[in-house]
Amino acid sequence: MKIAVLPGDGIGPEVMDQAVKVLHALVSDGLALEMEFAPIGGAGYDAAGDPLPAATLDLARQADAVLLGAVGGHRYDSLPRPMRPEQGLLRIRKELNLFANLRPAVLYPELAGASTLRPEVVSGLDLMIVRELTGDLYFGQPRGIHINAAGEREGYNTMRYSESEIRRVAHSGFRIAMKRGRKLCSVEKANVLETSELWREVVVEVGREYPEVALSHMYVDNAAMQLVRNPKQFDVMLTGNIFGDILSDEASMLTGSIGMLGSASLDEHNKGMYEPIHGSAPDIAGQDIANPLATILSAAMMLRYTFSLDEAADRIETAVRRVIAQGLRTLDIYTPDTTRVGCAAMGDAVVAAL
Ligand code: IPM
Ligand code: MG
Repeated sequence: MKIAVLPGDGIGPEVMDQAVKVLHALVSDGLALEMEFAPIGGAGYDAAGDPLPAATLDLARQADAVLLGAVGGHRYDSLPRPMRPEQGLLRIRKELNLFANLRPAVLYPELAGASTLRPEVVSGLDLMIVRELTGDLYFGQPRGIHINAAGEREGYNTMRYSESEIRRVAHSGFRIAMKRGRKLCSVEKANVLETSELWREVVVEVGREYPEVALSHMYVDNAAMQLVRNPKQFDVMLTGNIFGDILSDEASMLTGSIGMLGSASLDEHNKGMYEPIHGSAPDIAGQDIANPLATILSAAMMLRYTFSLDEAADRIETAVRRVIAQGLRTLDIYTPDTTRVGCAAMGDAVVAAL
């Protein structure tokens, strides 16, 4: 099993070091994993003048799975858009056809106090956002900034989804719902947008093939509200690229920290890229205070979804639960009754708990 490891920028390299440590521990126990490293994002730009260097894309294509840290940094914010780190991420998702983005939001009982919501609202939370990842406003043409008829600058992007794009991600959502609580809520804005109207129609059609899954529909504004009002009403949330981007950040905070959540981005054949849902956090980079658990849990998702190594994935997830139960906390989830550790110490603790 070959893994392309792309640490990226900011805290990416330090959190990735910890995930690699954990994978190495499994390799010592006989897991046949091979890891190869390559730059992406700002690191790609620095190394090869491109946020997605050709060699990195080649490696990602050859590998069976990709493990990514995070991209982005203030240093790159003034580059022309195609050279910016975020474009490296968007391009690799598109090039590898990773249309189904799985973003779980799971609350660890011990972290209920780290959420800004009341413990009774979030305790026991276990929801999965399935976000479409290769279409929508992010990729729709035409797009740009031009001078309009009135002679002023005008920015425009296009929200568009074809039927087949909706259909394939809807299947992903229903299949995941079948393995979970068999409830799927499709989120869009069909009261205003034609794209959403089609989205709803196609989801209803696909839903007929999954009669055991209870399908509901919700407008995105209401969904944003319901997520903080009563998040436990949701099992699987299926939504488009832009809405999923926003809702998944919101959902992450229900669990206390965006530093705890991994994600999987899958193609038709379950080849995938795995990354923490947090960003590169340049303000805390290099200080050994970042939370590596989201990246470690992303590695567990990789073992589960791409390699079907449920046992190895369970081992990592159990080890993470154990260090949390031991009271070890990075700054983002620290409360005064716990023990504060740095990024590397947290990685070591997970390895010890394995
Ligand atoms: C995410 C991020 C990315 C996105 C950015 C960095 C391009 O916010 O993965 O959610 O918008 O998809
Ligand atoms: Mg985002």
